[in-house]
Amino acid sequence: NMDIISMKDFSRDMIDHILDTAEKLEPVARGKERSDILQGLVLSLLFFEPSTRTRMSFESAMVRAGGSVLNMGSVEASSISKGETLADTIRVIDGYADAIVLRHPKEGSARMAAEYSSVPVINAGDGAGQHPTQTLLDLYTIRRESHLEGIKIAIAGDLKYGRTAHSLCYALSLYGADITLVSPESLRMPEEIIEDLRSHDINVYQTSSMEEVISDIDVLYATRIQKERFPDPTEYQKVAASLKIVPQLLDEAKEGLKIMHPLPRINEIDPQIDETPHATYFRQSFYGVPVRMALLSLVMGREP
Ligand code: CP
Repeated sequence: NMDIISMKDFSRDMIDHILDTAEKLEPVARGKERSDILQGLVLSLLFFEPSTRTRMSFESAMVRAGGSVLNMGSVEASSISKGETLADTIRVIDGYADAIVLRHPKEGSARMAAEYSSVPVINAGDGAGQHPTQTLLDLYTIRRESHLEGIKIAIAGDLKYGRTAHSLCYALSLYGADITLVSPESLRMPEEIIEDLRSHDINVYQTSSMEEVISDIDVLYATRIQKERFPDPTEYQKVAASLKIVPQLLDEAKEGLKIMHPLPRINEIDPQIDETPHATYFRQSFYGVPVRMALLSLVMGREP
């Protein structure tokens, strides 16, 4: 099985290949061209945590390329609520589908599920671990709207719990990026990931100030403070409103600065930014469709 669990498992060739395929499939993802590359295939969606983009863009990718989707629905509506384990659930669902997409609050759950599944498992977010398909669409966005090689990027927000930031760092290490990590002191990037970046000769700089970096970057990647991962709600309250992107902050920004966000945003980006040429986040969420279509065609052995 070709499981998609961690960005650490990807080579640069593999990523470039998926992004190239996504580019070819973009007209299909937009509904402008028809394709049947996933015809007759069934994808199962198992979401143990809320999702709008990941769940629905996987669904859109399948449907637009001729495939079908089985959605387990909410945890409450499934037999998980009766106490069924993840392992048993996976052993049952692998008989219903050709691949499984899993989002789960526990780090390492996708890797575990892959051990029980006879069909490929795609990690759609495992706790504070990783979110590799988000990273593929982030890379696609950067490549399409800016440039990937040697990109100067600031990744801001909850770098401790934010799985999209974790996966993105692993991938950027393959592209010679120049990375600034912007977060409150208490939400710094895990040391293990910083060490991985440095082992790839990546310049990593850490700060708590957005103002300090804004004039020098090509991409500002904002992330949400992950409220649901805080063991202590008062700790969340202390950092909740930090690092908001407001119009004045952009006075010193490069003209071509792209502001990205995996979404949902809470109050990280002032809505006034939405109408500026910097706002890239809604196109970014659309790119999830061609990228996931390309990934599914690869995982399910149906490459165009
Ligand atoms: N970016 C992202 O994973 O969004 P959802 O939680 O809505 O899937």
